[in-house]
Amino acid sequence: MYNFGVPAQLNNWIDAISRAQVTFRYTANGPEGLLKGKKVYVALTRGGKYRNTPADTQVPYLRTIFAFLGMNDVQFVYAHSLNAGNPGATALAEAQDAIATLASAA
Ligand SMILES: Cc1cc2nc3c(=O)[nH]c(=O)nc-3n(C[C@H](O)[C@H](O)[C@H](O)COP(=O)(O)O)c2cc1C
Repeated sequence: MYNFGVPAQLNNWIDAISRAQVTFRYTANGPEGLLKGKKVYVALTRGGKYRNTPADTQVPYLRTIFAFLGMNDVQFVYAHSLNAGNPGATALAEAQDAIATLASAA
């Protein structure tokens, strides 16, 4: 998380992959994502703790863009409070556990 949004580098990547006629297209019924049948895993790292708060603009934005491109199966792993001392270490361990759980279910 950079300033409550996604870092510019991630935004550049999204701009690079969001291509009309390639990864999405407009139809008579509206936009259609062309990247279907994919699972998406997003590791979110943050200095503070904003999960499920209005300040977390990342998750709704990423859900929207992935859905627009056809990807609705999106899992988020949160590593938050990383700049908050010991809570950060705990949060990192929790994130690693969440990844292990996702990997064992895949
Ligand atoms: C430019 C910048 C902006 C940041 N903005 C936020 C923010 O709005 N909220 C937050 O929780 N953390 C923020 N952070 C902290 C980063 O999310 C955190 O440092 C990063 O996820 C962990 O990676 P690191 O270990 O490389 O720093 C910011 C960091 C930088 C460098």
